[in-house]
Amino acid sequence: MRYWLVMPAAGTGSRLGGPMPKQYAQLQGRTILEWALAPFLQDDRCAGAVVVVSRGDTWWPEVAARLLGATQILTAAGGAERCDSVLSGLLALEGRIAGEEWVLVHDAARPCVSSHDRDRLLESAASHPVGGLLAVPAADTLKRADAERTVLDTVDRRDLWRALTPQMFRHKRLREALERASAEGMRPTDEAQAIEWLGERPLLVPGSSTNIKVTTADDLVIAAALLAARPAGSSGGLAR
Ligand code: CTP
Ligand code: MG
Repeated sequence: MRYWLVMPAAGTGSRLGGPMPKQYAQLQGRTILEWALAPFLQDDRCAGAVVVVSRGDTWWPEVAARLLGATQILTAAGGAERCDSVLSGLLALEGRIAGEEWVLVHDAARPCVSSHDRDRLLESAASHPVGGLLAVPAADTLKRADAERTVLDTVDRRDLWRALTPQMFRHKRLREALERASAEGMRPTDEAQAIEWLGERPLLVPGSSTNIKVTTADDLVIAAALLAARPAGSSGGLAR
């Protein structure tokens, strides 16, 4: 099988703050975005990657220069929300990909994704009619609260999962799903939600809970520790 990677990297990282968008923060000697790309750039099944960056992004050219020679990398312009950026990435693939081919969408803010996570998703979702996403069962007891942060009730967590990325769908179907959502003024927070709105039911593929999204300063500390704990030689196939 063959797939294309779409990487939304056009956010501002407002919850983390700092001098640059979080995808360009350094962790263990390279940017978060480079860590997030690595398992795909070293995968023979990956035909190429579209990195979606915001129009005013002054950090991307330097990173792109370091990635020269790796798998084909295209750039697309991001939009107001994540779903707009992903759609922009899909549109950049028109003419390079058949409608039935797979696209993996992976957040630039998830640097700890492993080749093992990647393979689990590829192996499970490729044989599913709709596609699927990496996910982790909810582990903590879940509370619903009111505006004053007073507990209303405890939510049964047995059927609840946290949706991660990568998420894997067929190019044409995902494009249709995101275009339909956009036309109806709906804003999916992941690809699967847009597909669900078409009445389809993606597969949840259990992934590692180490595949965290860097959102706050605490996450940066956790991600740095996770990457530092990796065995030597698993640096993701990129030159250091
Ligand atoms: N993203 C994007 N385009 C946007 C918003 C987000 O491509 N308009 C990307 C981010 O760069 C990130 C991923 O979507 O890789 C997940 O989004 P999130 O973690 O919310 O990142 P930010 O939006 O940058 O952070 P924040 O919400 O704290 O501002
Ligand atoms: Mg955001």
